[in-house]
Parts: sequence; C-alpha cells; structure tokens
Amino acid sequence: MHPQYARRLHKTVRRLVPDSDVRFLLSESGSAKGAAMVTAVAYRLADQSRQIIQTLEELQLTTEQLLEVKKRMKIEIQNGLSKSTQEIATVKMLPTFVQSTPDGSENGDFLALDLGGTNFRVLLVKIRSGKRRTVEMNNKIYAIPMEVMQGTGEELFDHIVQCISDFLDYMGMKNTRSPLGFTFSFPCQQTSLDAGVLVTWTKGFKATSCEGEDVVGLLRDAIRRREEFDLDVVAIVNDTVGTMMTCAYEEPTCEVGLIAGTGSNACYMEEMKNIEMIEGDEGRMCVNMEWGAFGDNGCLDDMRTEYDRTVDDLSLNPGKQRYEKMCSGMYLGEIVRNILIDLTRKGFLFRGQISETLKTRGIFETKYLSQIESDRLALLQGQIHSATLGTGTAPVTTVS
Ligand code: BGC
Repeated sequence: MHPQYARRLHKTVRRLVPDSDVRFLLSESGSAKGAAMVTAVAYRLADQSRQIIQTLEELQLTTEQLLEVKKRMKIEIQNGLSKSTQEIATVKMLPTFVQSTPDGSENGDFLALDLGGTNFRVLLVKIRSGKRRTVEMNNKIYAIPMEVMQGTGEELFDHIVQCISDFLDYMGMKNTRSPLGFTFSFPCQQTSLDAGVLVTWTKGFKATSCEGEDVVGLLRDAIRRREEFDLDVVAIVNDTVGTMMTCAYEEPTCEVGLIAGTGSNACYMEEMKNIEMIEGDEGRMCVNMEWGAFGDNGCLDDMRTEYDRTVDDLSLNPGKQRYEKMCSGMYLGEIVRNILIDLTRKGFLFRGQISETLKTRGIFETKYLSQIESDRLALLQGQIHSATLGTGTAPVTTVS
C-alpha cells in the first residue's frame, strides 16, 4: 500500500465513522513475511507445549518408580519390626496392644474422643449385641484453635477436658463414670492398651511438654485438675486402628486400616513372632505402621520434587513425615499452589503474572483439589477459581 493511499483511506474512514480509532499500518512485503510469522508462532506454541508436557511429566511416577517405592517401603517395614534396627527405623511399626478384632458380642455405652484430624470430636457410642446388633452414636464437634494446638500441653488438655465437660452436660451424663476410648492420631510408643508415650507431634500440632510423655497420664491429670467428673480411660487408639476395628465390626475379614486424611498412615494385624519388640510369639497384634515418616532418612529424596521440598522446609516439622507431606490432605493444596507458581513463572499460566493471592501460603486448600477432581461441574469451578487466583484475565490452562 502506498503511504498516500493509507492516509486517504484513514481520512475517509474517520469521516464515515468519527468515533472509530482504526489505524492503518503499512506493511512491506507483508504477505510473505506473514507466512514466516505463522510458522514462527506455530513453532513458539509447539515449543511451549513441549515444555509444559516435560514439566508435567516430571510430576508423574512411572510404574517402575512405584515398584521401587514399594521395595524401599518393605526394607523400612523390616527395620521397624526388628529389634536390632528399631532404634534407627523411620517407619516405626508401633505395637498397639490390640490383639483381636470385634466378634459382635461387644456390649455397652462408651465415650470416645477423637483428636488429630481437622476437628476434635467427643462421642457417645452405644453398642448392642445379640440378634439385631446395633451401634448408635451421638457426637459433638469442637474446634481446637491454633493457639491451643501450638500452646502449652496443659492448655491443650484443659481445653479437651472442657469440651468433654460440655458434652457430658449436653448428654446429661455428668454423674456417670463411663469407660472412655481415646483416639489420638499421633505416633505413640505403647506399653499397654491404656498407656502411650507421644513420640512426636505431627500435622498442625506442637503443644509443649507432651512429647516423651504418656498421653493418657496427661488426660487423667487434666480431668483431675478440673475436679468436676471422673472417667475411666481404658484405651488409647491410633485412628488407623479405630478405622480398622470399625470396619472389622461390619466385615470380620477386614484386618488393615488406612487413613488418607489430614495425615496419612496405616495399620494391620501382624503375627506376634514378627514383632520383635514385644515378648511372646503366640497370636497376633495390630501394628501402627506410622508410614508418614517413610523417607525421613533420605531414602525417597530422588523422588521428591522441588515442590515437596519447599512444602517440607516451610512446615512446622521440617525433615519429618516426608512421605505424609508428599500425599496427605494437610499438604496437597500447598504443593499444588507451589506448582501453579512455578508454571506461572515459566509463563505457562495466568500470562506469567503471579498474583498476590497466589503468593499467599495455605490459600489453595486441598478440598478444592478434591472438588476439581470429583466431577465436571467442579472442573468448571476449578477453572473459575484459577481465574481468581490469576490476574483476572482469562486463564489459558486449567488446573486439573
Ligand atoms: C500420624 C498418625 C496418624 C495419621 C493420620 C499422622 O500424622 O503420625 O499417627 O495415623 O497422621 O491421621
């Protein structure tokens, strides 16, 4: 196009449409250059999708890698079960003193506490045996404020007892001395069914003066301090064990419990002769594996990504519970947030703009991941959410 022609054209258009802000650009050998442009854009896009595929590939474990994880886990399990290696074992394989699953003849009213997940719960469970076996439950959920989870041990146990007191009032049971089972979802070195020394806090807990102490003792002390009611604390139970027992009540062949929740862990019925830390070879006992700590000796380091390391480094207990941090609810959202930041930094998402929201720790909760994964509608919401996490301009790539 001749420059003169362009000016004329512009003038005419302005006269016809005064509001128009159309501008004409002059192009020299435009159409030929254009072909090169089309090719260049195609090249750039192909290169970008190659990079995206490569980045995402690193996040997928191959079958060979999974089999390798299994092999290494087996070694750690063996270390945990053997007396000579127990001390250095990361997967602790803790005896639980639970030696049989329910047979249906159980009967009575029991109180139960559940500490260690997202909420604290107090329950009354009425178990009735006979032809028409029934289990009836009443429960109340109580929040445990962060200051209490990470305050002093006394404050934590006083808070727990205060919740129990509220529950007993609510149920009109203040004057009955009920047997109580305490689900305490942390690693405990047990010496009997009703004694367990806290090995270490995990997940969001960090109350002082509890590690190395018998947790049942701490609970009994707090009940005594309150001087209001009495309870018969009969058992301290890991949540994996509680889960296994509940399922075994319905299905007697169930002998494994697995938790994929805030934390991750499993238990199973083991032959006594294989549990070297406990005297006696007869019968079986449930072992709390504490597999969350798998990898704490570095044996999974080649499989951890930079995102796993970042999440671990910034956690309450760096270097501990590495396997748990790679897969459980308390950490998954944070892992994804770190991946999103990295993908954005690489220019694959949100037009390369890392928003303040995306920079906020803990903002992308694991529940969003579940929602995104669960159905098509949620997938759509995931896209909308990715728009809000971004700069507000349309996201090009979805999160799932
Ligand atoms: C604890 C386990 C517990 C698991 C699931 C882990 O952090 O160490 O004792 O079973 O979380 O709640």
